[in-house]
Amino acid sequence: MNSAIIKGIGYYVPKNVVTNEDLSKIMDTSDEWITERTGIKERRWINNDESTSSMALEASKNAIQDADIEKSAIDFIIFATLSPDYYFPGPGVTLQKELGLDTIGALDVRNQCSGFVYALSIADQYIKTGMYQNILVVGSEYHSGGLDKTTKGRGVSVIFGDGAGAAIVSKSPSKERGILSTHLHAQGEHAEELTLIGPSTRRWVPQIIDGAGKDDDAIYPYMNGTFVFKHAVTRFPEVINEALKKNDLNAEDIDLLIPHQANLRISQFVQKKMGLTDSQVFNNIQKYGNTTAASIPIALAEAKQAGLVSQGDLICLAAFGSGFTWASALIRW
Ligand code: UT7
Repeated sequence: MNSAIIKGIGYYVPKNVVTNEDLSKIMDTSDEWITERTGIKERRWINNDESTSSMALEASKNAIQDADIEKSAIDFIIFATLSPDYYFPGPGVTLQKELGLDTIGALDVRNQCSGFVYALSIADQYIKTGMYQNILVVGSEYHSGGLDKTTKGRGVSVIFGDGAGAAIVSKSPSKERGILSTHLHAQGEHAEELTLIGPSTRRWVPQIIDGAGKDDDAIYPYMNGTFVFKHAVTRFPEVINEALKKNDLNAEDIDLLIPHQANLRISQFVQKKMGLTDSQVFNNIQKYGNTTAASIPIALAEAKQAGLVSQGDLICLAAFGSGFTWASALIRW
C-alpha cells in the first residue's frame, strides 16, 4: 500500500488587520479581556471583493508552488469549511473552476474546526489505495460577515477570523515518510453547544424574514464557551495520545504539535497536560484568531516557512470543535 505525504503547504490571509482595540470601538470589550481569555491580539477580516473560495484559491496556488507540481497534476479536491460561498453547491466546485481543473472531482467536508484533519484523513485513504495521485486539501473560512458585532455577540465575535490554508497530498517517495495514522471522532449530542442554526432547513430564510428578522438570535453563531472549553481540554490530549499509542510513540517523540487554534489557553492547557515543551507546540492564534478549518493548514504553512518542520520530523495535528468533532493526525514529515 502507498503512504501519503503532505508534499506542499500554503496559506492566505486577508490584508485587513482588525485589532482588539478596533473591536473595543464597536462593542463593549477590551484588549485586556480578549488577550487574557484567548491570547488573541488581532485577526483578519476580508474585504467585500473576497470570499471563502477566493481565499482558498490563493492558498492553493501557494501550496501548488510549495509542492513544485503543475496544477494539472491535481486529480481531486477536498474542501473543508463551515462558511461556504453558497448554501449549495459547496465551494469545492468553485475552486475547481477557478483553478481551471477541467472536470476532476470536488468533495466538500462539513466538520468545522476538525474539518482539515477529517479532509486529510480522506485524502490519505485515496492516496493509499492509489485512486488519486495528488489531492488538493483545503480549509478556508469567511467568518467576519456573519458575526454579531454588537456587545450581545462579543463572546463569539472577538474569537473568529478569516483565512485559508491548503495542502497537496501525494504518494510518499519512501515507506518511512508520510501520514502514519489519522483518528476521527464525533459526539452529536452536543451539536447545539456550538452552532449556527439559521439559515438552514430548521430555519429557512423566509421564516427568518417573517419572524424576528435581524433580531433572530438563530442567525448568529452560538457557543456555550465554558462547556466547549471543558470538552476541548479533555478531547485534545485524548486524541493525541490515541495517535501516539497506535504508532508506539510517546509525547517526547513529537517534534511539533500543531493544535487547532481555538484559544491560546486551550493550547497551553494541552501542552501542560501532555508534558510538552514550548518548542514542541506551535501557536499563531495571536495574529489570526480562530479560523476554524483553516487554522491547522495556516499554522502548518507558517511553521514550515519558519524552518520548524524538517524531513523526518514527527508532526502531530489535532483539532476539536463544533459537532462536537475532534481528530488527530500523526505525520513522519
Ligand atoms: O474552535 C471551536 C472551539 N471553540 C473553543 O474551543 C472555544 C472554547 N471557549 C473559550 O475559549 C472560552 O469559553 C471563551 C474565550 C469563549 C470565553 O471565556 P470564558 O473565560 O469562558 O468567559 P465566559 O464566557 O465565562 O464569560 C465571562 C465574562 C462574562 O461576564 P459576567 O457574566 O461574568 O459578568 C461575559 O459576559 O466575560 C464576559 N465577556 C466578555 N467581556 C469582554 C464575554 N465575552 C467578552 C468580551 N469582552 N469579548
